[in-house]
Amino acid sequence: MDFKNAILEGIPATLPPVKEYDPAVNHAPKRKDILSSEEKQLALRNALRYFDKSQHEELLPEFHKELETYGRIYMYRLRPDYEMYARPISEYPGKCEQAKGIMLMIQNNLDPKVAQHPHELITYGGNGAVFQNWAQYRLVMKYLAEMTEEQTLVMNSGHPLGLFPSHKDAPRVVVTNGMMIPNYSKQDDWEKFNALGVTQYGQMTAGSYMYIGPQGIVHGTTITVLNALRKIAQKSTSPKGTGVKNGDLGAGSLFVTSGLGGMSGAQPKAGNIAGCITVCAEVNPKAVETRHSQGWVDVVVEDLDELVQKVTEAKAATKTISFAYLGNVVDVWEKFDEENIHIDLGSDQTSLHNPWAGGYYPAGLGFEESNEMMSSNPEKFKEKVRESLRRQTEAINRHTKKGTYFFDYGNAFLLEASRAGAKIYKDEEGNFVSGATAGEDKDFAYPSYVQDIMGPMCFDYGFGPFRWVCASGKEEDLEKTDSFARDVLKKLKEQAPEEVQQQMQDNIKWIEGARANKLVVGSQARILYADAEGRIEIARAFNKAIEKGEIGTVILGRDHHDVSGTDSPYRETSNIYDGSRYTADMAIQNVIGDSFRGATWVSIHNGGGVGWGEVINGGFGMVLEGNRESERRLNAMLFWDVNNGIARRSWGRNPGALFAIKRAMEKEPRLKVTIPNIVDDSLLDNLT
Ligand SMILES: NC(=O)c1ccc[n+]([C@@H]2O[C@H](COP(=O)([O-])OP(=O)(O)OC[C@H]3O[C@@H](n4cnc5c(N)ncnc54)[C@H](O)[C@@H]3O)[C@@H](O)[C@H]2O)c1
Repeated sequence: MDFKNAILEGIPATLPPVKEYDPAVNHAPKRKDILSSEEKQLALRNALRYFDKSQHEELLPEFHKELETYGRIYMYRLRPDYEMYARPISEYPGKCEQAKGIMLMIQNNLDPKVAQHPHELITYGGNGAVFQNWAQYRLVMKYLAEMTEEQTLVMNSGHPLGLFPSHKDAPRVVVTNGMMIPNYSKQDDWEKFNALGVTQYGQMTAGSYMYIGPQGIVHGTTITVLNALRKIAQKSTSPKGTGVKNGDLGAGSLFVTSGLGGMSGAQPKAGNIAGCITVCAEVNPKAVETRHSQGWVDVVVEDLDELVQKVTEAKAATKTISFAYLGNVVDVWEKFDEENIHIDLGSDQTSLHNPWAGGYYPAGLGFEESNEMMSSNPEKFKEKVRESLRRQTEAINRHTKKGTYFFDYGNAFLLEASRAGAKIYKDEEGNFVSGATAGEDKDFAYPSYVQDIMGPMCFDYGFGPFRWVCASGKEEDLEKTDSFARDVLKKLKEQAPEEVQQQMQDNIKWIEGARANKLVVGSQARILYADAEGRIEIARAFNKAIEKGEIGTVILGRDHHDVSGTDSPYRETSNIYDGSRYTADMAIQNVIGDSFRGATWVSIHNGGGVGWGEVINGGFGMVLEGNRESERRLNAMLFWDVNNGIARRSWGRNPGALFAIKRAMEKEPRLKVTIPNIVDDSLLDNLT
């Protein structure tokens, strides 16, 4: 059967043969066995809903076995036989370009070159799912292939509720993932309700079909590392043996971190672009091998003494180089302390949003030993994780006392370390203490990367991870879009105020080097941090070029991790200090606003990045077709998509956002934002 017919077939009338479990593929860890036997029956009843009654007898034992073996029912046998990758848009069956664009993006999210656990439909972050099972995938692709511009597909956590009549201007797909009644949003609730087959963890771009491979994150990580280096250069805490003092930003500086997974794997590459020495610890040999073979990390080291020696040499030679240490990051922090290796920048990118199910591997246990223990003895495993987090924090604290700048990389490190009782707060005298001593409402001893870097330097001004995909699949289209985007940014930079010159320059440099850095994995995609004006102007240039036939269809989108898409008190909105960082109005407003201003699809998720119950995030996708309709939509939607977040940040009294929103109001007279009056601190100080 050819590809188009296979899509149109949906769930086949005759069951395909059982598929062998392929050990060569990176599989999701076995999930917790959390359901009672009654609940297991419910999970099976739920799974069989997708199939004709005549197939139930055959499928029941198989699904039961999947549930017992893996903790979830993935319906492996339904995984299609055709290759999974983003095809040129013309190869998809369908009645509208918009739906075909979405199919392309879904397949990209499941491409084995792109996805972390492709057979379990997990794109990244250990549990970031596109769908819960292969039946959902097949049904969705069929719906998309059949839908017209008078219909909208409703997606409830991977499950296609169906096509509903709508209209041309409505989104073609509306996605929700993991939306729970708030009281049912604890980690174990995800385990239970996901195992039942009624919800999923969509991460950010996984469940919204907007993941573009590690490139998306390389750019953000490069900006973070660059600005962190600028920060230490400004503070002139003069990193030892570094070129920061000589104006050569990264040279000789040491950056220590962990994780070579979906997003974390970008760190050594970003370190290389920023020009420092990076040590990235990773316990999973497969992840090390993948990143090393892709050229994302230069050298693999398996022995700590050798690592010390190599890092010492690199420092002496002020080399730009990245090392993958195959082992536990806790051991690196401890060893470098013993050996007095000065770390300039420190962070962590284990998946602590998912601490008990494979996101964090505790020190002192082997990789396989941990995998075994997390399902056979989850309570003991939890204790090991907590113990390891306390050890890691102790070692980090010893380094920061010696001048290391440590920041939380949005992976819930500070949060989980605090929950583990680690000394991650400071008392009045500046001593490191645990939460029990510090008091509950105390701030952590370390900032998050958003508090110190991304928030004030980028998000408050509207700069965020705008991205596009050339749906023709042609490399030359991507090249052309790169140059359109570069020209737009250069033009805008000429008139840009002093406050955003550095950001504009970093982004121009990025787009100029993007091709040479060979960042494409999967679809012909590009990420580029841009502000509202930049995003709109770039999109307009694309739309015009499509109209003229210079390039094919372009799909626009962004990471949810942006100015306005995400409410997350310990990450994206951690630099909002008026108390509203625990609210989620912005993310909800953002996605509602996008949906009626012209998005092709919208999504809103519970969880993502820092964990289930800890964040609400949303995003959009927009297919540009090179016509006036597309022009109208992009103007209306992109303006709102960025400025609603700046408006909220300005109401939070953030200076950069106040500056940016006033500038936006000057340019667009229809924009009228409520501006805060700033109380004189001395008035409050006198209050008794
Ligand atoms: N890169 C970014 O810009 C960014 C931004 C925000 C948040 N994050 C967060 O970073 C985390 C990582 O994301 P990811 O997609 O790479 O996840 P991932 O699960 O793909 O990768 C994490 C890696 O850490 C490894 N690991 C776990 N414990 C370890 C330990 N003790 N020592 C060494 N290695 C260990 C795992 O084996 C895994 O390969 C997530 O929580 C994500 O939300 C990343």
